[in-house]
Parts: sequence; structure tokens; C-alpha cells
Amino acid sequence: MVGTVISADMDLIAQMQPNHKARFVAPEVPALRTETTAGRPLRLNTGRVRDQWHTMTRTGISPRLGQHLPEPFVEVHPDDAIRFAVADGDFARVVTDYGQCILRVVVSERQQRGMLFAPIHWSDANASAARVGALVAPFTDPFSGQPENKATPVSIAPYEYVFRGFALSRAQLELPPHAWWTRVAVTGGYGYLFADNADLAGWQSWLRSVAGSDLAEYKDLGGGIYRAASFAGDHIETCLFVGPARDAGDWDVVKSLFAADALGDDQRRMLLSGKSVDGLASAGPIVCACFGVGRTTILAAIAAGAGSPAEIGVQLKAGTNCGSCIPELKRLIAQTKVAGAEVDPGQRQFARVAN
Ligand code: FES
Repeated sequence: MVGTVISADMDLIAQMQPNHKARFVAPEVPALRTETTAGRPLRLNTGRVRDQWHTMTRTGISPRLGQHLPEPFVEVHPDDAIRFAVADGDFARVVTDYGQCILRVVVSERQQRGMLFAPIHWSDANASAARVGALVAPFTDPFSGQPENKATPVSIAPYEYVFRGFALSRAQLELPPHAWWTRVAVTGGYGYLFADNADLAGWQSWLRSVAGSDLAEYKDLGGGIYRAASFAGDHIETCLFVGPARDAGDWDVVKSLFAADALGDDQRRMLLSGKSVDGLASAGPIVCACFGVGRTTILAAIAAGAGSPAEIGVQLKAGTNCGSCIPELKRLIAQTKVAGAEVDPGQRQFARVAN
């Protein structure tokens, strides 16, 4: 099989030469064209994530694939996160000599020290400040043309937003120009995750300009909270949740209500609380896209004794179709073991669920 591939490549190379013979190129010892500096002390690696492809022109229209990692992010090693004062779940400005982005921070041991990783999938069409390709140094290999897109010198610094929020709509929306935002496909329409520093009252005016007349609102402007939903018949047409820091409401719960064809009276009453009617916690961010199984559900199964992906699969089906989520299941199991070893046995159950 390997021989077949090499042979096909050699045929191609030979066809490209006037004499139809392969031309071998002996490159100089490979070396990066850039150096890190005091101002750009890290290197930026760019690449892909599990559930998306290129600029998401196809994968980006799948609500199922959008569940896994809905926001553009930058992954940072824990030591670098401390060194540059960025925190998991917050925002950071990532700057190279060629451009800048504002991305969600993911702090992870998977990342090498001295390196950042940012995925290439988001563009100006589906995010306000996440065109990672624009950060890459414009140097290409002289023979293959391959860009040096794994090692651009870069800096990172925290970026603060006063408000976080989300919107859901049957039609695409144009968010206020001052907001950081990203758009993701959700069942029944479009979801927007955003953050902002502008006056909260501006969001109320904006929502009223895009929503229908059957509008329910909850506002506590002093507390930094505004929530509203407009309805068409029994289903949600547009809704907006804005809150301080990380307290906008439960995106997963509201998404599931948005997906429903018709809301019952209780669901409609509870909608603006951002909590599910039955009081159950949401399943958390989706880990297994094939079966829609969330992180919180998986952590609960691990806490209850599931110690391998196979055991999780028996209970939840997660990992039993395409298998792409199995590495993440293994990581959750390993993290839970570490957390369990670090706490008092009496606290172990809490630590596992909270991890
Ligand atoms: S993502 Fe396919 S089995 Fe989990």
C-alpha cells in the first residue's frame, strides 16, 4: 500500500518535468525564517479541530458538529497562562507582526510550553475577530510553497469584557459592531455567542429592532442582566441573554428550548430564567457529537464508576460510532483520576463532577 502511494507521487513528479524524469531537490537544513523576541515571546501553531474542516463552509452548517467547540479559541500551556496572566474561559488578544485576534482562552496541558495553538476555521463571515490565517508569517517554502504556519512569533495578553451573552434566531443577525461575536449553527436556526463592553441598554434597543412584537423581557440593568425572547405562535423566534462575566444564562438549556417546535406554558414561563423546567442541570458542552452527549453527563458517569471509554459507551453510547471523541473521553477519565487523587476522599465525588 505504501509502495503504491510513493509510486503515484513519483509518476506525478516525473510528469511535471520536461524530460519526464523525477527531479529530486536537496533542501538546505530546514530552519525557521523567524525568531521569537521579547515582544513576541511565544510561537503560534495553527491547525484544525476534530469536527470542522477548512473555513466551515460545509461543516459549519451542521448543528451537530457545531456543538463541540462553538467558539474560536487559543490553547495555552498552564505555565504560560500564569506567565501571561490569561485564564481559562476568559478572552485574550493574540498578536503577531501581521495581525491580531481576540480568542477564548483554553488552558491545557496538551499544549507545549512556549507555543500557542489556534484553529484556522473561523473567518470574518462567522466571527468578529478570529481570522487566524491573518496572523501567520508570510514565508513559504521555496520549493513546495507550504507556508510557515506552525511557528509564527506571537504575544498574548488578557482582554476583558464586562458582558457576555448569547442570541438565538431563526434568521441570521447582524450584531452591534462593538461586540465580539461568533456564529454557530444550531437546531432551528443560528446561535451567536458574544461579549461586549458597551452599555447594556444598547442591547435592549438592538433586540427590539430585530425581534417581533410578541416580546417577553426580564431586565436588571443595575445588575448587568437583560434577557428577552420574541415568539411566533408557540415557538421562540429570537432570544437574547446578556449578563455579567460568565453569568448570561445556560446556553445549552435555552438552545434546547429554541429547538422545540412548541413550548409548553411552563417552558415559556421558565425560559428567561435560563434554566430547564425540570430543574435538571444541562448536559454541558457536547463531547460526543454522534450521540449528543455532553461533558457534564460524561463526568457524572465517570464519577459513578465508568473507568474506560468502553464503560462510558455502554452507559451513554458516547464513543461507540465514529470514535473521534474517544481521546477526549480518555482525557476526562485521566483528569478525573488526577483530581480524585488530589482531594480528600470525602470530597472526591464533588471534585470529579466539578472538574
Ligand atoms: S463523536 Fe462519534 S462516537 Fe463520539
